[in-house]
Amino acid sequence: MTSQTSDQTPDRVLITGATGFLGSWIMSALLDAGIHVMATDINDDYHRLEALRPDLPGGMIDRRILDVTDAAALDALVAEARPTGIIHLAALQIPVCREKPAAGAAVNVGGHINIFEAARAHGIRRIIYTSSIAAKPRGPENAPSNLYGVFKKTDEEIARIYWQDHAMPSLGLRPYIVYGVGRDDGETSAITRAIQAAAMGEAYEIPFATRSCFQYAGDIAKVFVRAAQAEWRGALLSDISDRVNSIDDVLSAIHTVVPGARVTGSQTERLSPDAGFDVAPLRQVIGEWQETPLAEGVRETVELYRAIAARQPSAQRA
Ligand SMILES: NC(=O)c1ccc[n+]([C@@H]2O[C@H](COP(=O)([O-])OP(=O)(O)OC[C@H]3O[C@@H](n4cnc5c(N)ncnc54)[C@H](O)[C@@H]3O)[C@@H](O)[C@H]2O)c1
Repeated sequence: MTSQTSDQTPDRVLITGATGFLGSWIMSALLDAGIHVMATDINDDYHRLEALRPDLPGGMIDRRILDVTDAAALDALVAEARPTGIIHLAALQIPVCREKPAAGAAVNVGGHINIFEAARAHGIRRIIYTSSIAAKPRGPENAPSNLYGVFKKTDEEIARIYWQDHAMPSLGLRPYIVYGVGRDDGETSAITRAIQAAAMGEAYEIPFATRSCFQYAGDIAKVFVRAAQAEWRGALLSDISDRVNSIDDVLSAIHTVVPGARVTGSQTERLSPDAGFDVAPLRQVIGEWQETPLAEGVRETVELYRAIAARQPSAQRA
């Protein structure tokens, strides 16, 4: 399984889950890299991107409504866009998968298959999708600990079989706990909520203690943009970081950036793998990448939340 950077910069990416947290950061970075974006999601609410990038002129993005469970609609959009790559982010998060398992499977597994089928039908040779640390085995049962993780693990296996059966290259990336402006959904959004609370002078308790990789959204976005311009063979699967910190480290970074912040942690343990990370497959695709130090990522997030609040003092937070 070798990789190389493409001679000709691909310039058309179709992205799913575009209005979400990571979608907003990745689109911002794609546009900065001069890559044309067809943005798709089940909704047309781009408030996260607008909060992040108030400088972006309207009309830079081709925005389409797309439900990834609708195979025919997806196929038609891919046929129209003829993208050089697909960044597939659309998913339902841990709480929704727990409460509505059939919907979780339809979106997180069925939607994933629809992406691979549409790519196969239209000769798209570059799929980058988000798996998750939740797919990794953990605890006494050495297995994913929730349905979301089971679905993500299944997605990794589906990608492997598409390489085996159809020589379809893919890169599955496993973000861990990503933080940054716009992270307002999902269990681990608590880290961003804590930083936001500190920025706004509010009290907040992070409801769990854990050791994990806390990743700045800006770093993740750059990784996706570089992968969207690379070529590789195989169904690669990679961690994005092997830098492990504790919630105490996060709290310490917050208190360094915002002295006197009323942000605390809970003793409730949240099981998460804290060793055995493998970033080699991603390095094979894009080479080396930088990780923003925790305190610097917290500082940028505090500054962004304060800038947003200053622009729209009475509006809802991004
Ligand atoms: N943020 C993290 O820390 C993290 C960690 C691990 C993995 N991930 C994965 O990264 C991806 C993006 O995460 P995020 O934090 O941006 O999540 P998010 O919830 O902010 O975004 C997901 C997007 O998917 C869209 N979506 C839901 N159902 C859809 C459907 N049927 N068709 C089309 N779009 C649909 C939602 O509208 C939303 O905009 C997801 O696959 C997630 O599982 C995120």
